[in-house]
Amino acid sequence: MTAPVHHITHPLIQHKLTLMRQKDRSTNSFRRLLGEISMLMAYEVTRDMPTQMIEIETPLETMQAPVIDGKKTVFVSIMRAGAGFLDGMLNVVPGARIGHIGLYRDPKTLVAVEYYFKMPADMHERDAIVLDPMLATGNSAVAAVDRLKETRPKSIRFVCLLAAPEGLQHFQSAHPDVPVYTAAIDRQLDEHGYIVPGLGDAGDRLFGTK
Ligand code: URA
Repeated sequence: MTAPVHHITHPLIQHKLTLMRQKDRSTNSFRRLLGEISMLMAYEVTRDMPTQMIEIETPLETMQAPVIDGKKTVFVSIMRAGAGFLDGMLNVVPGARIGHIGLYRDPKTLVAVEYYFKMPADMHERDAIVLDPMLATGNSAVAAVDRLKETRPKSIRFVCLLAAPEGLQHFQSAHPDVPVYTAAIDRQLDEHGYIVPGLGDAGDRLFGTK
């Protein structure tokens, strides 16, 4: 059975995403909006995280209360645009560890080429949440998760802001066990591998490099 695609349609997320798509939006505003959306998406992505009971004292009495073990979570940022998701996610799960995967898209073949890979120790004890704003062809996402699976994390989820139907199909056929969380599924890819209508190059808009 294929893991679900969670299309997160919360009005706050949709509103902020619309602002991000606008071509005249400043780098500063684009970055801030992605940070805000990440926090809101973290809420959905962590919805079924296991909790454990600990004993605490309220001002009135002792009680058993649930806590999440954030140290068991690893956010895996696909460089470089994945970095835009990190701060917001860490605001919500501050104890999480962070891994990085560096991939670039060969502009001619659109194939993902790895140039960096660094994960925390004990990956087999951790739930991995992979972050990349754009699921376009799916090549980078598939390659990142292929590589991540070599470290044998307990579970993997994939979070993006926008997905193209082609990328979703590619990703799900390569990794049917990995659920995808996205704020939008756009119409299609163009001939350069950009999502349309999309929001342009997420990395350039995030870092102001164009
Ligand atoms: N990467 C981006 O940043 N934008 C796209 O539309 C596709 C891939």
